[in-house]
Amino acid sequence: MPNAQLAAGNVNEQVDALLKKMTLEEKVGQLVQYSAGFATGPSASNLTYDDLVAKGQVGSMINVVGADKTNRYQHIAMEKSRLHIPILFGLDVIHGDHTTFPIPLAIAASWDPEAAETVARTSALEARADGIDWVFSPMVDIARDPRWGRIVESNGEDPYLSSALARAWVNGYQQGDISRPDSVAACVKHFAAYGAAIAGRDYNATDMSEITLRQVYLEPYRAAVEAGVATVMSSFNSINGIPATADPFTLTRILRKEWGFDGFVVSDWGAVAELLNHAIGADGSTVARKALEAGVDMDMEGDLYGTTIAAQVRSGKIPESVVDEAVRRVLRVKFAMGLFNHPYTQPGPAYAATPERRATARKVADETMVLLKNDPVEGVGTLLPLNSKAKKIALFGPMADDPQDLLGAWSAGNPSDVITLRQALQERLGDRLLYARGCGLLTGNDANVLKHVTFGGPETAIENEPIPDDKTIAEAVALAKQADVAILALGEPTNWMEGEASSRVHLGFTGSQEKLLEAVAATGKPVILVVLAGRPLVLTWAGAHVPAILEAWSPGIEAGPAVMDVLFGDVNPSGKLPASLPRAVGQEPLYYAQLPTGRPAHGDLSHMPYNSEEKFLSRYLDEENSALFPFGWGLSYTRFRYSTPTVSRAEAPVGQILADHQPVTRVGVDVTNIGSVAGTEVVQLYIRNTAASVEQPVRELKGFARVQLAPGQTQHVEFPLGFDELSFYNVDVERTVEPTTYDIWVGGSSLATAETSFKVVE
Ligand code: BGC
Repeated sequence: MPNAQLAAGNVNEQVDALLKKMTLEEKVGQLVQYSAGFATGPSASNLTYDDLVAKGQVGSMINVVGADKTNRYQHIAMEKSRLHIPILFGLDVIHGDHTTFPIPLAIAASWDPEAAETVARTSALEARADGIDWVFSPMVDIARDPRWGRIVESNGEDPYLSSALARAWVNGYQQGDISRPDSVAACVKHFAAYGAAIAGRDYNATDMSEITLRQVYLEPYRAAVEAGVATVMSSFNSINGIPATADPFTLTRILRKEWGFDGFVVSDWGAVAELLNHAIGADGSTVARKALEAGVDMDMEGDLYGTTIAAQVRSGKIPESVVDEAVRRVLRVKFAMGLFNHPYTQPGPAYAATPERRATARKVADETMVLLKNDPVEGVGTLLPLNSKAKKIALFGPMADDPQDLLGAWSAGNPSDVITLRQALQERLGDRLLYARGCGLLTGNDANVLKHVTFGGPETAIENEPIPDDKTIAEAVALAKQADVAILALGEPTNWMEGEASSRVHLGFTGSQEKLLEAVAATGKPVILVVLAGRPLVLTWAGAHVPAILEAWSPGIEAGPAVMDVLFGDVNPSGKLPASLPRAVGQEPLYYAQLPTGRPAHGDLSHMPYNSEEKFLSRYLDEENSALFPFGWGLSYTRFRYSTPTVSRAEAPVGQILADHQPVTRVGVDVTNIGSVAGTEVVQLYIRNTAASVEQPVRELKGFARVQLAPGQTQHVEFPLGFDELSFYNVDVERTVEPTTYDIWVGGSSLATAETSFKVVE
């Protein structure tokens, strides 16, 4: 289906009229993008591009930020180039531009598409003021392996949740109309299946069945395309032996022919040139041709298109019609955005962290907090929410007062905007707060690794020099003994060890933080652990020994206030895990929607104890199969009761479901707040197809709703089920529904037990 935003008015006529006037060099110029600012990948040329822009040979620029800088280039393009075609300025705006919101994985933990939309809308506004009209977001790669550092940019492990968020991000950036002065063009990335890099090692190959590719990995990109995303970024990885940046199957057959995408595709950074490393062609001309013919319209920071395409058209190797089609796609976005009429950015007031934006950032961050554990402590009861009368509270940990790391990976915001945990707690408690850092984020080997990392500059690594930990841990222990309760804020260096090129095989706290935690816990003082990280970490020791654990991710500029909101009960936590937290790295990739095995029959193995007496089972001998904290998990300060779910109709004929794609039944459930404080529950619906021609996961999320409930209040929640929820890919790789029975569960996590069923009959 053509994208209405891109076909608005007479865009296509304008594109064709312009195309007719263009020389071959000018056409190819629209297909190249250069980085003229800082580098976000290897080998940035960092040149100025005035001459090429004046010749009309630069279609887009990346990393040129600030109205003064973008306007300068735009003036050259509009005034000196022959056809006055505006440049499109792109930037990685990942979780806010200046106002840094929580990382995308945290936003996914809110299970609140409106929150994602708000973040995207605010980002668009700020990016526009910086001269940016195109953002490289949302990233919707399904991430089932937290060894892969880019899980931080994702919506986690589940295609249904990720698709809902993908739509919201796109709607927030584009607002249904990319010509608005406060909209930006979005770019869904990285197409495709980048998150399934083998062994969680970034840039590695992916290899999977077409059914899994379509049913799991492609779904969120499809959702973004349906939401009207203007552009798509191809990924670095290969898929089943074909590099994604030269893959006609995904880029043309699926994306364009099946999904009707009519925006343009940009390669990832240098990915066209990297096709040489993938060894699918002996020279630059060959790989550039393969990328272009496969469907990559624009070459990001790699000048292979700029230097090889025109000659290949002249020699007859590439039909000019292929170039024309790619140019059309790029120009369509530029016209639809209104760039020809409004190429410049009006310089505005300098960004300031206004109280309104801070309030929005805090509200979003509040929703992202996941209370993993809140067990009663003998003689004290549950530690959370913290009684504000608690006399002395000790705060420890290298994440407690580190603004840069609280901003999280890939943030452009200013660390001086961040309110840290220490600052927020200090404000609340005054001299009732005892604070010590306790240890650094890094020691020994970690620090050595970072010293060799050059991406982004060496300064931060030097600031993170290891400090002698034994002494500082002893000081923290002494301080803990004077307090009634200790809060430990621990994690990993989010700005350095998370995001791109940040795969890890050890997923514990870095440096001596675990030692600090164990030492403070050994004092016998009640301990609250606040985890600040952009990936699921292994919290096995803490899970067994620490009574209260809050997953706070990387919360952004309002980190301190948001964490305190939840710790002190001003906000009742409502976040739910968008990715499973493992017991051991060896379980990865770990996700709830696993396929069944033959041993045991029909088995959801998640609760299989590792010391089961039966040997021949699909399980580990030395650890449970289950997650330490499963997908969808998150506690509240109140409790919710679920009624037995019902279906509005117990069965429906397969023909009807296939014919009209409308919901055929509604699953209804009553959710009651049976505690004494108000709370928000994320009600989740899971299904299992119990008899399909292709085996289906033991559980799949197919609906969710955030429900706010006062104490004692009950709300009836309904979820529609129809083709979209019930269908799967058969052996012919067609989406279908067959006669079967679906088991259905509704509850507050992927462990939901309230059950009903629905039949599809002949
Ligand atoms: C990343 C992309 C990013 C691009 C531009 C690449 O290294 O993979 O996600 O958009 O750089 O900075």
